[in-house]
Amino acid sequence: MQALGIDIGGTGMKAAPVDLEAGKFAAERVKIATPHPAEPNAMAEVVTKLVDAFSWKGPIGITFPGVVTNGVIRSAANLDKAWIGLDARSLLAKAAGQEVRVLNDADAAGVAEMTFGAGKGEPGTVVMVTLGTGIGTALFVNGTLVPNTEFGHLEIRGKDAEARASEHAKDTHDMSWKHWAKNVGEYLEHIEALMSPQLIIVGGGISKQSEKFLPLITGLQARVVPAGMLNDAGIVGAAMAAHPGSAAPAVAGAGANANPALASAGTGNGPAPSGFPNPGLPE
Ligand code: BGC
Repeated sequence: MQALGIDIGGTGMKAAPVDLEAGKFAAERVKIATPHPAEPNAMAEVVTKLVDAFSWKGPIGITFPGVVTNGVIRSAANLDKAWIGLDARSLLAKAAGQEVRVLNDADAAGVAEMTFGAGKGEPGTVVMVTLGTGIGTALFVNGTLVPNTEFGHLEIRGKDAEARASEHAKDTHDMSWKHWAKNVGEYLEHIEALMSPQLIIVGGGISKQSEKFLPLITGLQARVVPAGMLNDAGIVGAAMAAHPGSAAPAVAGAGANANPALASAGTGNGPAPSGFPNPGLPE
């Protein structure tokens, strides 16, 4: 079973068909730069191009780098503010030529990691942190997602955390690995103080170079590990949201077809397409 996953980011918009049983791309990913200004109509045109690139006809899930409730965008820290309050599900469905599901990008990446990656089978409290243009977070309690957490905007030393510890902050301020790792470490200490996760999964494009900064982060109780799927998790999680009941359970024993991680993903996009079990998405 396949679905098209589209991952909308502040820098690039990426898509690939995903094999939902394997949690792997079924064809090579296509990436198009995010238009600037990052306005809804211009970005919707890119969604059309990505769907056309695969002549895609099946289910589609789309991530967005902001709060998404019932398909409506509630925040857009790194995109044009015209997105806020917009019904992205309708706009992007029109662009894709069919129904789509829309969810927060870090939530999607977290769901993929909990099902196929570094968080597979992990009970208790797990936090996924994506370090990219901004900082995204996904919080899991016994494999179930608490959707739309925004811990990338914690205030640290008087600044938005993502202004100090995102990959974008590292590049903009030309920080050394050592300097940036100190900021990321301080950020993760805040996460630990607030939520006491047993596992912190670090994702985003820069997780490919985790050996350059994770060993410099010490003194946390939580295990801190790089994302198992590196930067592919967003696309895989987007595709999973298109078929919320189709993937393996995030936590062993959670039920044959149920994916508890997605049961509360907040996509609010109505029932799953017929033929696929719906693990409890709001209808
Ligand atoms: C947004 C989050 C998003 C993260 C990563 C933040 O600025 O507020 O919703 O998950 O960036 O894209």
